[in-house]
Formats: sequence, C-alpha cells, structure tokens
Amino acid sequence: MSISMSKRSGPLAPGVALITGGARGLGNAIAVSFAKEGTRGVVLVDIQDEATFAEGKKNVEDIGCECITIHADVTKEEDMERAIAQAVERFGRIDYAANFAGIGGPSAPITEMLLSDWQKTQDVNSTGVLLATKHEMRQMMKQESIDGIEPGRIPQRGSIVNCASVNSLMSMPGVSAYTAAKHAVMGITKAAALEGRVHHIRVNAVSPGFLLTKLLIPLINMASNQGTELWNQFEKRQGRKAQFDEIGDAVVLLSLPRMSLVNGANLFVDGGFTVNEGNE
Ligand SMILES: NC(=O)c1ccc[n+]([C@@H]2O[C@H](COP(=O)([O-])OP(=O)(O)OC[C@H]3O[C@@H](n4cnc5c(N)ncnc54)[C@H](O)[C@@H]3O)[C@@H](O)[C@H]2O)c1
Repeated sequence: MSISMSKRSGPLAPGVALITGGARGLGNAIAVSFAKEGTRGVVLVDIQDEATFAEGKKNVEDIGCECITIHADVTKEEDMERAIAQAVERFGRIDYAANFAGIGGPSAPITEMLLSDWQKTQDVNSTGVLLATKHEMRQMMKQESIDGIEPGRIPQRGSIVNCASVNSLMSMPGVSAYTAAKHAVMGITKAAALEGRVHHIRVNAVSPGFLLTKLLIPLINMASNQGTELWNQFEKRQGRKAQFDEIGDAVVLLSLPRMSLVNGANLFVDGGFTVNEGNE
C-alpha cells in the first residue's frame, strides 16, 4: 500500500500558531485548540495585563505546548512588525495566524455617534486586521510550505483566519461602528485571499455566533432584565448556548492544508443563527 493510501496519523496541526487577541476569550480558546492538535508553538499577541496574559499562557502550556506572549497593539504597525519578528525569532516561522483582537465599539445610534468612538472601532477591528494580515503574509511569503501536504495537492506556506462576526452580514440599531468594521474585515479577507493564493497562502474569515465573553458582558448588561432578555433571544435563535472551544476548533480545522480549496470564505460558526428567519 502506498503512503497516500494509508490512514493519516500524527498531529493534525503540527506547525506554529500566532493569535492576536490570544490572551483571553475566543483568541485564547483558539490557542488551546491548536495546542490540543499538536501545534509546536503558540504565540499570544495582545495588550492585556500581566495576570490575563499569564492565565492565557498557562491554558496553552497545561496541554504541553510551548507558548510565548507578546505585548503588541494591533493598531500600531511597528508593534505588529515586532510581534511577527519575535514570533519568528522564537519558532522560525508562522504557519497559522488567527486575527481575533477586537473591541465591541460604542452602542449608539448614528445620530449620536462620537467620531472618536467610530474611529477607534475601525482602528482595532478593521485596520488591526489589515496590519496583522500584512505582516503575517510577508512572513509566510518568505517561508517554504508546511510538511504533510496530501499527494497532488498544492503546498501551504501559511493560513490566515480573520475574525468577522454575524455583523459581517447583519446589523441592528446601535451597532453601526462594529458592523462597518466587521464588513471591512470581509473586504480585507477577500482581497488578501486573492493576493495570497499565488503565494500558496489562504486567507479566510470565521464569524462566531453569540458567546458571552468579556467583550460582550458590558455591552449586553446582563444585570438588567432587558440585557438578559436580549441575550436569551440571541441564544434561542442560535439554537443553544455556545462554548468558546467550538470557535477554537473551527479555526484550527480551517487552517489545515487539507482545506486547500477554501479561500476567501466567511465560515459562520453560529449554530444556524444567520440562516434562521425565526427566533426559535
Ligand atoms: N463573543 C462573541 O460572541 C463574538 C461574536 C462574533 C465575533 N467576536 C469577535 O471575536 C474576537 C474576540 O473577542 P472576544 O469575544 O473573545 O472578546 P475578548 O475581549 O475576551 O477578546 C478580545 C481580545 O482582543 C484584545 N485586544 C483589544 N484591542 C487590542 C489591540 N488594539 N491590540 C491587541 N489586542 C487587542 C483584548 O485585550 C482581548 O484580550 C473579536 O474580534 C470580536 O469582535 C466575538
């Protein structure tokens, strides 16, 4: 039997993963999912405090994966250049990047929108994704393909997964800044996918459904009846409560060279929220 006809074995994701927004929340869940699939090294890029960074790092190391933390702001180009350089200095390359740094933005109707709030949201959620993509792609273009490509399939120099949202497709009153930024993430992802494919780099997006992370808690205001009601409505439409590691696993699987023809896609990981025309 030839090798190509045998069962696959070994770690699913043996490369090196870099995650922006990786210190906590969905980004950290992605880091843990990579660690569980045998990733050689994980790089957490964030602007969090020491304690949050330490907890995020421990979550990865507890699985037996090497992990480094880099304090870098995705809105600052020099920070992102430094973060990529430090990651490569430590692990030699970046095989899987997940750009999950993000903020909720203001809850305000457009008529009350403060320009500074609008701009901050675009800076982090859209420009931050652009800068991360730019410097990750530059590194990936310099490196050879990861090993373990299926016979006959194209090599993969790298994979980038950007964080979009249900708000890359839909909106609701009061979330124009976040909605616009997440639509922009798809614009960046589509162009990057077409620019990247000639270099054997895939660029996709994931749109998580509703997960009660520290980003959402202050926005939803679970202390109020109105907030709890809104959240219950979201979860009902999603079908159930979701776990952070469900996003983590989706990002890992999307990053594998076996997903070779998937490029420029927006994978909704929302239990059917966006295809549900009802509320149940
Ligand atoms: N929670 C959800 O239901 C949900 C749904 C759809 C999309 N998202 C997206 O998921 C991503 C992760 O968010 P989360 O819900 O896990 O919240 P979170 O607040 O726990 O995580 C976001 C992380 O990004 C970091 N960050 C913020 N600004 C940064 C900057 N300028 N530079 C570097 N890091 C920065 C934060 O410090 C934080 O650790 C975001 O892009 C968010 O928009 C979340």
